[in-house]
Amino acid sequence: MRGALMGYYLKILLAICAVHELAGGVIRSTTDAAYKKYLSIKSLPFEDCGSLYQVSYLEIESCTTVPCSMARNAIIKVTVRFDDNGNGVSFLKHEVRWVFNYIKTQAAISPDPCDGDHGCIESASDGKAYWANIFVNETLPVMRGSMLWESKDANNQNLICFQVPVVITV
Ligand SMILES: *[C@@H]1O[C@H](CO)[C@@H](O)[C@H](O)[C@H]1NC(C)=O
Repeated sequence: MRGALMGYYLKILLAICAVHELAGGVIRSTTDAAYKKYLSIKSLPFEDCGSLYQVSYLEIESCTTVPCSMARNAIIKVTVRFDDNGNGVSFLKHEVRWVFNYIKTQAAISPDPCDGDHGCIESASDGKAYWANIFVNETLPVMRGSMLWESKDANNQNLICFQVPVVITV
């Protein structure tokens, strides 16, 4: 009898725990979704060109709307957050190009590659974040175009690809 009663209480206790767990999970995923939404609102708009790891946030120094105005000879910091699906990404080889009238030219990026040595990649609550500086070459044409940013892993696999409209200014 006592054993049965004990079992009964135990079952109730387990049921309470299960409900708790469930509520916790729901709250956690709601918070996650809310945070992602918050990031996407704060992010500059960009076009994803086939990222393996979803880009959740893009920030370009002193740019609040697209096309991003970029002065020749400037060095501009770019910050990106992405979800590495828990894979612990710690190396990124950047390949960034300017695109004007379908003509692509290589952009100078630093640090590149981004590895553990420069503090350019770090964990964020929703995955990883990296930053890099892009140099706006004085030879770029003063016109509208876009910046095409690809980041690859050590095996040259494309992890991130996004494109953002820019306008080069003098
Ligand atoms: C700027 O562009 C010129 C001409 O395309 C090139 O020779 C030079 O290496 C570029 N500078 C940098 C820092 O990429």
